[in-house]
Amino acid sequence: MGTMRKDQWNPSLYDAKHSFVSAFGDSLVKVLTLKKGEKILDVGCGTGDLACQMADAGAKVVGIDSSEKMIAKAKEKYPHLSFYVKDVTQLDFHNEFDAVFSNAVLHWVRQPEKALKNIYTSLKKGGRFVAEFGGKGNVQKITDALLMQIKKAGIERDIASPWYFPSIGEYVALMEQVGFRVTLAMHFDRPTPLEGEDGLKNWIAMFASSFFEGINEQLKHEIIANVETALKPSLFENGVWVADYKRIRVVGIKE
Ligand code: BEZ
Repeated sequence: MGTMRKDQWNPSLYDAKHSFVSAFGDSLVKVLTLKKGEKILDVGCGTGDLACQMADAGAKVVGIDSSEKMIAKAKEKYPHLSFYVKDVTQLDFHNEFDAVFSNAVLHWVRQPEKALKNIYTSLKKGGRFVAEFGGKGNVQKITDALLMQIKKAGIERDIASPWYFPSIGEYVALMEQVGFRVTLAMHFDRPTPLEGEDGLKNWIAMFASSFFEGINEQLKHEIIANVETALKPSLFENGVWVADYKRIRVVGIKE
């Protein structure tokens, strides 16, 4: 997964409650149209499920992730595959991969130019970059409700977004700057069902903990309960929480 200030990832909770991340990643793997023997770099491989799927399809996969805990879990689950703790902004591969793949990760990377440069350098000539992540407006309702309820609780401070959610115009321009020929760019709504009655609460605990830095546990619980109440009319449908995801999907070729 991406860059969080500390390694705050919880791989077991991630696998138990957020398996939709790799389930949706399935359709991105299809965009890769893998050929047997191709060498693939999975950027932000998490606990390794999609890397394993690509390996099962005959690819030689290297998975990297900046979270030590995620990589430890990936190695435990798939000991036959290659996983390394590495941040995409610190990559040092040169002309090695037929494709670089990244699902639901690049919105954590606050230095997108550096990441794109490193991805470009990692690819062989003719190689492809296939990625999907949060685009402009992603989880806007959840973010607005969090900020509103934190403010209503009397906490007056600027809270920086932990995420990078660009428009396709912005991201395609960056891809072109580093040299990619962009062959696909999409920005689409992908309402994402969260598991169980506590789906929203779990999502916030897993992904939005940085909003609560310096806030005590009790107040945090109260704020989250207020966020649930505020969002119920728009994001709770037929007994299921549905997060307002908006994705960017891109494909670029190194020519
Ligand atoms: C996403 O996949 O869009 C996402 C996940 C966690 C936090 C923010 C966005």
